[in-house]
Amino acid sequence: MRFDRIWRHATLATLAPQRAGIGLIENAALAVSQGRIVFAGPMSELPAAPRATEQIDLGGRLVTPGLIDCHTHIVFGGERSAEFELRLAGADYASIARAGGGILSTVRATRAASDETLLSSAAERLEALMNEGVTTVEIKSGYGLDVPTELRMLRIARSLGRQLPLGVVTTLLAAHALPPDTDRAAYLSEITGELIPRAAAERLADAVDGFCEHIAFTTAEIRAVFQVAREHGLPVKLHADQLSDGGGASLAAEFEALSADHLEWTSEAGVAALARAGTVAVLLPGAFHFLRERQVPPVAALRRAGVPVALATDCNPGTAPLLSILTAMNIGAVQFGLSVQETVAAVTREAARALGRLSEIGTLEVGKRADLAIWNVERPAELVYWLGRNPLHARLWGGA
Ligand code: NIG
Ligand code: FE
Repeated sequence: MRFDRIWRHATLATLAPQRAGIGLIENAALAVSQGRIVFAGPMSELPAAPRATEQIDLGGRLVTPGLIDCHTHIVFGGERSAEFELRLAGADYASIARAGGGILSTVRATRAASDETLLSSAAERLEALMNEGVTTVEIKSGYGLDVPTELRMLRIARSLGRQLPLGVVTTLLAAHALPPDTDRAAYLSEITGELIPRAAAERLADAVDGFCEHIAFTTAEIRAVFQVAREHGLPVKLHADQLSDGGGASLAAEFEALSADHLEWTSEAGVAALARAGTVAVLLPGAFHFLRERQVPPVAALRRAGVPVALATDCNPGTAPLLSILTAMNIGAVQFGLSVQETVAAVTREAARALGRLSEIGTLEVGKRADLAIWNVERPAELVYWLGRNPLHARLWGGA
């Protein structure tokens, strides 16, 4: 058998579901051919005298699937450090939003920014994630809130995916906030009558998202958006129960959403609904930290019910100016009580599931894309334990 590359003497965290925990294999090898994994297992099972263009000894280094950031708002104009200062002085997120700041201030900055500025600022932020081993990222719109700017954001996200060695999955989040001086019903019909059909027809969006919250949209409004997404064959996901229990998790489950995200205030009934629907819980420790939240998502209930749990940065200028997936992992473990194994799975296999991409990425299994992160550590716990150390040794996207 001939391989393009073989890495030997690795510690693999395969995340393969048939193995226990995160599927750790010591003294392992991994081989790739034409951008795909063709072998991942103990060195003893490697075919005798395999031939490869390149063979690399990793000296025990840990190899994980490339990390997946499954929830970001990384394309945006401006920044909101002035709002951050107001919040440090005691103002809260919801009152800033009601006074026309918050999401709407980023909407003004995004509409005013050129394509080049939006593209280059997002590319710089994506580089930071890639430097920590991220190989796939989800990018939402939601700072345009009108047809041209929402579509423009999605096009920019798509071009980032073409320009950078990175998988980009796009999500239409037009139902993020009510645009200024706009009638609610008129904006919702713009989303359902024009934006979703155009985003679907032009293949600009891989999914549709909404913000179900008292400062954003009601469950009835989101339901109408989701019905149209379904008619256009687009899967859905939801910002659910972040600031209050608004029944978001149950609504997401009703539409068999890929994921329900945030979930700080989700009830037992919401957790049970997610479990029945097979919807992934995406927890966002960055927003929890920056908003000084106290209400922790119901991790024990999610675990008991068997709901898959993913973690993401939620990178956005308001609630999570966070450009480090490793930091999200540390905060998720420390503040939400996730184990190391749960945390590593949350940014690999479960994040892939949250994007509907598990058949392609998220584990080190034969046939999957060779998206890998190789780390200067031997124990997976070290990826979660340090705060501010980046132990990335190498990152491969599609084997290169
Ligand atoms: O995921 N929850 C709503 N949306 C973002 C925040 C967006 C903003 O404040 O700009 C979030 O936290
Ligand atoms: Fe978000």
